[in-house]
Amino acid sequence: MKKNLDTFFKPKSIAVVGASKMSTKIGHAALKNILISEYECKLYPINPKEKQILGVKCYAKLSDITGSIDLVLISVPAMIVPQIMNECVQKKVKNVIIISSGFSEIGNYELENEIRKIVDGVKINVLGPNTMGYKNASDGLDASFVFGNPRKGNVAVISQSGALGIGMIYLANNEFVGLSKIIGVGNKLDIDDDDLITYFSRDPETKVMGLYIEAVKDGREFMNSIKDCNKPVLVVKAGISEAGARAAASHTGSMAGSDDIYSAAIKQAGGIRCRDIVELFDMARALAGQPPAQGNRIGIISNGGGLGIMLTDACVVNGLKIPKLSKKTYNKIDRILPDLVKPNNPVDLVADAGFYRYEACTRALLEDPGIDGVIVASVHGGYARPSEFTGAILKMVRERKLHEEFKKPILATWVGGKEFEDIVLDLKTAGVPIYPSTWRTARAMLSLYLEGERIKREKGLD
Ligand code: COA
Repeated sequence: MKKNLDTFFKPKSIAVVGASKMSTKIGHAALKNILISEYECKLYPINPKEKQILGVKCYAKLSDITGSIDLVLISVPAMIVPQIMNECVQKKVKNVIIISSGFSEIGNYELENEIRKIVDGVKINVLGPNTMGYKNASDGLDASFVFGNPRKGNVAVISQSGALGIGMIYLANNEFVGLSKIIGVGNKLDIDDDDLITYFSRDPETKVMGLYIEAVKDGREFMNSIKDCNKPVLVVKAGISEAGARAAASHTGSMAGSDDIYSAAIKQAGGIRCRDIVELFDMARALAGQPPAQGNRIGIISNGGGLGIMLTDACVVNGLKIPKLSKKTYNKIDRILPDLVKPNNPVDLVADAGFYRYEACTRALLEDPGIDGVIVASVHGGYARPSEFTGAILKMVRERKLHEEFKKPILATWVGGKEFEDIVLDLKTAGVPIYPSTWRTARAMLSLYLEGERIKREKGLD
């Protein structure tokens, strides 16, 4: 049976063991993050030497607290953690986050097993050890020791690496990808990826999941959780080379396993494997904001022949199809284009293309039953006007009726410099999936196609 993580992510009371007055200590940062969270809960710093920390009454030990405790964050040296865990069990604490390092990731399996024995048969959820904790952006709770707030959104991120998880918050913010939750699983003594996938599949605030893993503890449970999940699951699996696997073993104590087996298992379960975290957020942005593609037939529009050809190649290499235009669509586009070009797929709108050509051609492709998704591209080729392209994209992506009518995704690509970048920023803030690379765009479209296929399988249509 999967874990109930409701009180883990939405605790009514939190204690921080190892809370400190010293601002450089992790126990200080963890307490402060909870204190400044936009989240209502009881908060108990635990430190035997202090009466008050950051203006909050301090307790010497957990048993001094009269009320129940939903969540305990532990930030004391590893050797003291078993003693604190015993106190948690006695106090009937529901959830624990062990921030402390110094366990299996450095070969100290004995100490980790000691904790395993303490919680064996006890109804308690344990995250970590060796974890940053989590940030619950949906509810405004920061139960981590790291600085930085994710933009609120609907992508849940699970990371086996703490530092990378933190970096992913900043990357997501930079890319205007909003997160629902981000959590570091650390050594996965108890709470595992599959528990979180199952929880997030029922979380109304989460639409897409992204995982960074080095290894999974229970392959079957991991696969089943993805298989049973009703949302897209994106997976970055690291440690694929021999040297990378060696690094993973010393990072989180993980045995990376055969890469081919991971690839096949993730695919078979219905997950999508990403090459790196940039790709993870590229795909997450597309999946969070666009309808899935009902098939792999893609229409491409650009204002530069070379850009259209590169997009075509990138799509085909990734298993997508760029079909010839139907007679009807050909005729529609022929009326839109200037006389010097003839319609094709990819459609070349010519370098001076403005709002009308972009919008009318995209609409013509969306109306074609032989096209499942559209990529609209622009290169700032001297006299081209990027704002005309971005204006058309913004209109189409925002047009709710368009999505409801056609249920087809629209992605965008651009090539250019600073002036283009500034306008693209506007699109990103509006949630438009736009990418500075033909390859990245094609991969994002692939994820929409794969999600469409997953949904068909879920509905028994495949
Ligand atoms: N109950 C409550 N507090 C206790 C305690 C107990 N039984 N025993 C000690 N403390 C207090 C200490 O006195 C100290 O408070 P002080 O500053 O007022 O003296 C505080 O707990 C922290 O203990 P300290 O010995 O100072 O440890 P630390 O803060 O230097 O380091 C860790 C503790 C957990 C941060 C450190 O051991 C560690 O693991 N760091 C790595 C964490 C990490 O990176 N995790 C993974 C992220 S991805």
